[in-house]
Formats: sequence, C-alpha cells, structure tokens
Amino acid sequence: MEKINRIGVLTSGGDSPGMNAAVRAVARTAVNSDMECIGIRRGFQGLINSDFVKLDSVSVGHTLSRGGTILYTARSEDFLTEKGRKKAVTTCKMLGLQGIVAIGGDGTFRGALELSRLGIPVVGVPATIDNDIGCTNYTIGFDTACNTAIECIDKLRDTMQSHERCSVVEVMGRNAGFLALYVGIAVGATAVLVPEHPVDFQKDVVERIQDSRLAGNTHFMIVVAEGAGSAVDIGKKIHDSIGMEPRITVLGHIQRGGAPNARDRETATRMGYYAVRAFAEGRGNCIIATQEGSIVEIPIEEALQRKKHLQMDRYRIMEAMQVGRVRHIEE
Ligand code: F6P
Repeated sequence: MEKINRIGVLTSGGDSPGMNAAVRAVARTAVNSDMECIGIRRGFQGLINSDFVKLDSVSVGHTLSRGGTILYTARSEDFLTEKGRKKAVTTCKMLGLQGIVAIGGDGTFRGALELSRLGIPVVGVPATIDNDIGCTNYTIGFDTACNTAIECIDKLRDTMQSHERCSVVEVMGRNAGFLALYVGIAVGATAVLVPEHPVDFQKDVVERIQDSRLAGNTHFMIVVAEGAGSAVDIGKKIHDSIGMEPRITVLGHIQRGGAPNARDRETATRMGYYAVRAFAEGRGNCIIATQEGSIVEIPIEEALQRKKHLQMDRYRIMEAMQVGRVRHIEE
C-alpha cells in the first residue's frame, strides 16, 4: 500500500457511548503519525454528500467524556445502491482520502467491505451497545449501556419492592441477548428472556415467579431482550396466567446515551490508535478486534463471517441464582 497521508473517519449505524473517544484517538494518532484526518459526517451518507469537517488534535479535545457522536451517524439507504457507492468513491478521491476508519457495528462493516472492494482501504472499529460482532470479544459502548440499564432497573426495583409488584423490563440488543443477560445477572432478575434460548413461558416465567413467591419474595423483575419478544406481550401473558398486573418499562434509546465509562473510553482509545497504526504500517481492510484482552486485526470478509454465541454458561449462572424450588442445573 502507498504511504498514507490523509484518512477519513466516520461513525455509522446506531451510536454508542465511546464513539467520540474512538474518533478522538483516530484524529490524534493520525496527526501524530504525520497524517491528516478528515471527519466524514453522517456515516456513509456523508461520503456520498461530501459532508466533511477537518479534524485536528485540538478540535477533538473535550470529546472523550461525551456520549453520542460529534460526527453524527446515519443508516444510509443511498449507500446500498451502486450509484451511491460510486459517488462515495468519487468523494474519497476528490478529498484525497487514502483510507477510511469506519466506526460502528455489522452494518457499518458490510458498508466497509463494499468500499474496500471499490479500491478504498478501510479499517473497522467495532462500536455497538449490542456486543454482537462475531470477530471481537467486546464492542465499544456495551459496558456503559449495561451500567445505564442496571441503574434504571435498580431504581425500578425500589418502587416494585414498595408496591410488591412485578416489573417487566425490555432492553435493547437487536437479535442478540448479550445486553439482557449481563444486565439480568447484575440486577438479580427473577427471569431473563433472550433470543438465543427458546422461551418456555410456563417454566421460564410463570414457575420462576411462583417459586420466588413461595420463597418469600413479593416483587419480581423480568428482563426481556427486545429480540426475545415484547415486554408488553410478556406482561399480558403474566397477567393472564397468574393474575398479577405487571408494570412495563421499555428502556429504549436511553441505553445508548450518557458519558462512556472507563472501559469504553480506554477500549475506544486503544482501538482508534491501532486502526490508524494499521494504515501507517501499510495494512488495511481489516477490523480491529479484542481477543482475550489483546488487540488483533481480522480481515473484513472473515470478520463478517464469524458468529458470536451467547455464553450459555451465563444463562445457567443466572438460573442458579434463583431462589425457591431446588432445580437440577443442566449443563
Ligand atoms: O444496534 C444498536 C441498537 O440500539 C439496537 O439495540 C436496537 O435494536 C437498534 O439499534 C435501534 O435502532 P434505532 O436507533 O434505529 O431505533
């Protein structure tokens, strides 16, 4: 690869806490590696519309602790078309961008792959609260989102306890249950429903509430991953089965906001740094991933093929924390 003098950086797809820390790391590492850094606004749509801002070490100052993304984000329909992608390549050439750092989730990486096939080198940085990217143990924003959900659910528990109620809380995660299961374990949920585990409503919800009640509990917390069903529907079914009137909370986009915590700032900074170093050292078309604490580069195509499975031992651990009837823990 030719020596890189100028790169672009964009954030795409759903935002996540720590994206700004990654943008900052990319801009500062670029400048300190003798490259110019151009911020592309509104994801791939910004490449199509030539919507950019020049970044330097100072302009990315005071962004480390800010949630959201200073570059804005979008899910570009135009980029899904050949015409749109060609326009994006034209913008890269017109701006003299020799590489793009694309920060986001799997949709972002599919876009990155398309761009790389058209001759623009790309390095991906995984950032999504869903933590559902196959090639990496961790995605930027997951820990902060878990903590936000936990803080909200702890507050709910206070009032559920006072009123001796059942709460059904829906958390994000798209088609994956990572957020729900981590959060469910951390709040001591009565039951956690995730898409990766087929839901047996009687066994996984009704009997859990009944057992908990028999053990002396008078309030119950059911955590539902959005991919496993709707909290409203689960609430209705609980009402129809045992006559309780659960209160429903959909945490929604609140989980995506807020200042990134230590893990997300630190991980985003390391990933942003290594993304630029990959370009500086003549590599591209890869995703920066964490594997057992270390940073590795995975070729984009391979990265997109990798699948990540919910660790079912965590599901069993959640089950093992339940009070009431003694159950045999199935391995
Ligand atoms: O991928 C991140 C995520 O927050 C998912 O958890 C959720 O399903 C989706 O984005 C929501 O997307 P939008 O912001 O378009 O409503």
